[in-house]
Amino acid sequence: MAHPYVLLSAAVSLDGFLDDTGPERLLLSGPEDFDRVDEVRADSDAILVGAGTLRSDNPRLLVASAERRAARVAAGRPEHPLKVTVSASGDLDPTARFWHTGGAKIAYTTDEGARRLRELLPTDVEVAPLGPAVEWAVVLAHLGDVKGVRRLMVEGGGHVHTRLLQQGLADELRLAVAPLFVGEADAPRMFGPGAYPPGRMRLLETRPVGDVVLLRYVPTAPGTGRSAVAADRRWLRTACELAAQCPPSRTAFSVGAVIVAADGTELARAHSREGGDPVVHAEEAALAKLDPADPRLATATVYSSLEPCTRRASRPAPCARLILDAGVRRVVTAWREPDTFVASADGSGALTAQGVDVVLLPECERRAKAPNAHLLSPPDRS
Ligand SMILES: NC(=O)c1ccc[n+]([C@@H]2O[C@H](COP(=O)([O-])OP(=O)(O)OC[C@H]3O[C@@H](n4cnc5c(N)ncnc54)[C@H](OP(=O)(O)O)[C@@H]3O)[C@@H](O)[C@H]2O)c1
Repeated sequence: MAHPYVLLSAAVSLDGFLDDTGPERLLLSGPEDFDRVDEVRADSDAILVGAGTLRSDNPRLLVASAERRAARVAAGRPEHPLKVTVSASGDLDPTARFWHTGGAKIAYTTDEGARRLRELLPTDVEVAPLGPAVEWAVVLAHLGDVKGVRRLMVEGGGHVHTRLLQQGLADELRLAVAPLFVGEADAPRMFGPGAYPPGRMRLLETRPVGDVVLLRYVPTAPGTGRSAVAADRRWLRTACELAAQCPPSRTAFSVGAVIVAADGTELARAHSREGGDPVVHAEEAALAKLDPADPRLATATVYSSLEPCTRRASRPAPCARLILDAGVRRVVTAWREPDTFVASADGSGALTAQGVDVVLLPECERRAKAPNAHLLSPPDRS
């Protein structure tokens, strides 16, 4: 399943509102920020808004700049990104500008909503029924696997942003904070009440854009159990980047590992053969940096570019054993160990048998293998 990179984009007032309660859309961004948004649109494969935003704002959601459209076409992409909306009710205006501008469009809806929309909407709009309810994970999987969407820009509204963030499906939040107040209790907020991922997000960037300030944050808190969230993919990519820092070897894999607390705090990171130790493994080196009595280990996640080993000649305990002894109950990995050095290693199986939740994210396998290509037979390299 190839989830797209999900970027939540919005402008908010200083008191956290997306709009006021008036009939016209409140313009929060200035010209420079609208141009920045246009650039993000041009970089995206698809733009999604909820049905509430379609009903209240009647947006076109196009790439405005002719140069950016030309660059997309020159790169073999459609002139405008795919336009996507989600509606359970199917209560959408068929004359809305969304349907009659730009290129391809898709409406995800319920079976009930689809009956309505197929009668209402122009015939070139794809209506995708997803059963009695619309699950966000199913929408994203369909966009990634069937529509080939790699970058999805979500432009609201508050209901959609809230659900995607709460369900751990948002990879990044880009918020433009505008220097004005709305001050109306009933105005729509960017984020509603509910359970959000714990801990603090990581700040990637702040930038003035005209008189607004752009904030870019990424979630950090690992998922729980066997299901993966966007932060899991980010941490696993970090582990794969660490693998690329290993001193080269012809007799051992290059592996990176990060240990992350439940609130998203990074506890330790390491890579194979670090610190001049020619045989140390990544998970072993990362665990060695922590106090074995650290209470955060019991709810931490170990990210390892290659599944933890189960047999090794160089040290008495393999990494799967070290992880169990440390009390860690969740491991996320990109790549099952091939038979290159040990036949049928199955570190994931050994951990699972002891009650550890092991999550395999094959979308990161290529990154995990890259620093090890010289150890793999040609069919295993991809
Ligand atoms: N400042 C900004 O950057 C910005 C950007 C965008 C929007 N906005 C503002 O945000 C406000 C609209 O936000 P909103 O929260 O009311 O609406 P919204 O998030 O745009 O849309 C909510 C609607 O989307 C559909 N939906 C969402 N999740 C669904 C799911 N899992 N399954 C099925 N349907 C689902 C439902 O449509 P149905 O009701 O049809 O079932 C739901 O009522 C407007 O005031 C707009 O101006 C501001």
